[in-house]
Amino acid sequence: MKHLVTLALLASLSLSASAGPEEDRAAFVQFFEKRFPSVAVEEHINGAYALDEDKRKQWEALESGFPPYEDAVFDGEALWDDGPYADCFGGSAAVKQSYPMWDEQQGVVTLELALNNCREANGEEALNYADYDMVALSAYIAFESRGQAINVDVPNDQAMAAYEEGKAFYYQRRGQLNFACSSCHLEMAGNKLRSERLSAALGHVTHWPTYRAKWDEVGPLHKRFMECNDQVKAKAFDLQSVEYRNLEYFLTYMSNGLPLNGPTTRK
Ligand code: HEC
Repeated sequence: MKHLVTLALLASLSLSASAGPEEDRAAFVQFFEKRFPSVAVEEHINGAYALDEDKRKQWEALESGFPPYEDAVFDGEALWDDGPYADCFGGSAAVKQSYPMWDEQQGVVTLELALNNCREANGEEALNYADYDMVALSAYIAFESRGQAINVDVPNDQAMAAYEEGKAFYYQRRGQLNFACSSCHLEMAGNKLRSERLSAALGHVTHWPTYRAKWDEVGPLHKRFMECNDQVKAKAFDLQSVEYRNLEYFLTYMSNGLPLNGPTTRK
């Protein structure tokens, strides 16, 4: 019976194309409240560690002391101070809660894209999205934005079309294994996949860039998207591709209202 209710909810989540982002978000949150009644909604910003006590203890040990993203935050601060960024972003680096943003010309503008726009407007070359400087700058901004509630907006019909693209991507099965993002992070959230505890989709965007032990470096959200696509032997897209920017837009809207807590660490 419980399973049937879950399936009905999922169907309404993925099939309600006419519902607006706010209805989608309410259904998304409700899904996880029902699935994990003893886990506060805000706790999901800690990913799998909200759902696994043992892994949480190991993680807390890694986060205390000198967390492995600390250098990136310091380096990012120096880059921020030396560059044109303060002027572009209104004087403060605590801006992550407003990204991604909709722009008539560029579509979904992520924080990384906005950083490159700022550089180019000031006669500097755009950074490659995999560059350490890009990751460090976004790590510093994430750190300064800690505690701010995510507040992204879908202001008009074109923005809505990009949001819908991102949403469709999320629920579309793909790859040789024929899994959608939602298969693992909604339907199977909380279950174990080999040695890993599958985290809830809610809160997936709050803590980037993130240091991953597996990467042995701090990396951006889209790198994680690539890895999750690879995992099911599906085509991965580029960092900051239109596909991943739209996906980030949808996924960030789902986490509207949750507090930012980046950078952080993950296995
Ligand atoms: C076959 C299952 C599977 C599929 C399909 C999948 N993922 Fe994942 N994903 C994982 C696993 C395993 C992890 C690492 C454990 C965890 O945090 O859930 C993970 C982690 C993540 C994380 C990091 C969570 C955190 O707390 O830092 C994000 C973000 C993410 N996935 C997004 C996606 C998106 C977007 C898609 C679709 C493009 C997707 N995943 C598809 C298995 C999957």
